[in-house]
Amino acid sequence: MTSAYKQGLTTLEGEFQIDSLRVSGRLPPWLSGSLVRNGPAKFEAGAQKYRHWFDGLSMLHRFAFKNGAISYASKYLESRDYREANAKGRITVAGFATDPCRSIFQRFFSMFSSDTTENGNVNLTQVADSYIAMTEVPLPVEFDPQTLKTVGLFDYGGDKLPGAVTSAHPHFDFNRQSLVNYITEMGRESKYNIYHIPPRQKQRELIGTVPVQEPAYMHSFGMTENFVILAEFPLVVNPLKLLFRNKPFIENFEWKPERGTRLIAMNKRDGAIKIWTTQAFFAFHHVNAFEQNGDLILDIAAYNDKSLIDAFYLDHLRAGELIPAAQFRRYRLPANGANADYETLTSESIELPRINYKHDNAQDYGFAYGVSQRPDRPGDFYNQLVKVDVRERTTKVWLAEDCYVGEPVFVAAPQATHEDDGVILCVVLNANKGTSFLLVLEANSFAEIARAEVPHHIPFGFHGQYFAD
Ligand SMILES: [Fe+2]
Repeated sequence: MTSAYKQGLTTLEGEFQIDSLRVSGRLPPWLSGSLVRNGPAKFEAGAQKYRHWFDGLSMLHRFAFKNGAISYASKYLESRDYREANAKGRITVAGFATDPCRSIFQRFFSMFSSDTTENGNVNLTQVADSYIAMTEVPLPVEFDPQTLKTVGLFDYGGDKLPGAVTSAHPHFDFNRQSLVNYITEMGRESKYNIYHIPPRQKQRELIGTVPVQEPAYMHSFGMTENFVILAEFPLVVNPLKLLFRNKPFIENFEWKPERGTRLIAMNKRDGAIKIWTTQAFFAFHHVNAFEQNGDLILDIAAYNDKSLIDAFYLDHLRAGELIPAAQFRRYRLPANGANADYETLTSESIELPRINYKHDNAQDYGFAYGVSQRPDRPGDFYNQLVKVDVRERTTKVWLAEDCYVGEPVFVAAPQATHEDDGVILCVVLNANKGTSFLLVLEANSFAEIARAEVPHHIPFGFHGQYFAD
């Protein structure tokens, strides 16, 4: 395999402020706001190397749009991980698949001291008037969305909701105007604690708990109008192993396909639980979920096993090893309690899926967007964007030679008259030129309308959000 894209996995030295990028094409006049993204951008601490794509030190990027012009800025998130890596020239904090080198003696004492990562490189959101960068431990870092400067560790209003592992993909419940997420409490009696944060508050309020013996690794979850849905993949951990931590976080989890995948729906009103089982599968990303005649519909970017986690070790990625492709699956969870089953919505693969969130979240919907892999280049890094019409089961594709794409973010036109009235914003690496650009597609036709050139590469990131002015 080739790995023409591997520059996307190299450190970006320095932080940048560019007032006006060179734009070709024409931006819609209504586009006024900013796309803020995060992702790993530094893959070493002194002479030590992070092992996994998910462990690189977080950088925030901001593309701001005004009057047809685009500015760009970037700044490292000044987490404890970042500060200590710079000051000490080594990795001091345990991450997803990278641990600091520790003696047995140090490991023993690390059980009693906190070396939990603050490296919020996965996603970002707004809680009350705070903007936070998140990873999968409940230590989000607050930042200023205008300057990208780090404010400090975010405080959930002093609440004491227990849990060690969480998702960086909270949902927003537009009916209740609250942020919904889950957090896994690990211990002798482990639980998934599902909570929400009511409007304008920072304290988390428990909705309900799911007791569990061996908690699963779940990167995201689904949400309908009335239910939170956890897809509990059979990638599970004995919580004691995490406590003693002989291995980096994710390497303590075991793939046990004989368990199948449990789909756990919790009623958001009373915390009541209903569970379906289906054949084993794994996913990072739910696409959307909704209710249909009492059944629950769960759309998800699914894999037959957990091999994608292994493929994302940086050695594997940089060597161009095969990257498994996700199927865009629709699971139906029947109201009568029969087993859940799925159909596939497109023959194209999909990852980093996005929808017109405000219009579609928890609703029967029309379109999903995502990164994908060209069928004629199986196993390559993400080299095309897809727009899937989930009703018509048709797919539009954008691709360009030597170009590797990031998560496509949908931005609705202010006076939108239909679901896909808006644009798609996407950071793309041109591997031939060694630089990145911001691609703007018209969402309806999925055709390019503009691009803005960045004079350097932007390391491959994960997620971002658009904030209108
Ligand atoms: Fe994610």
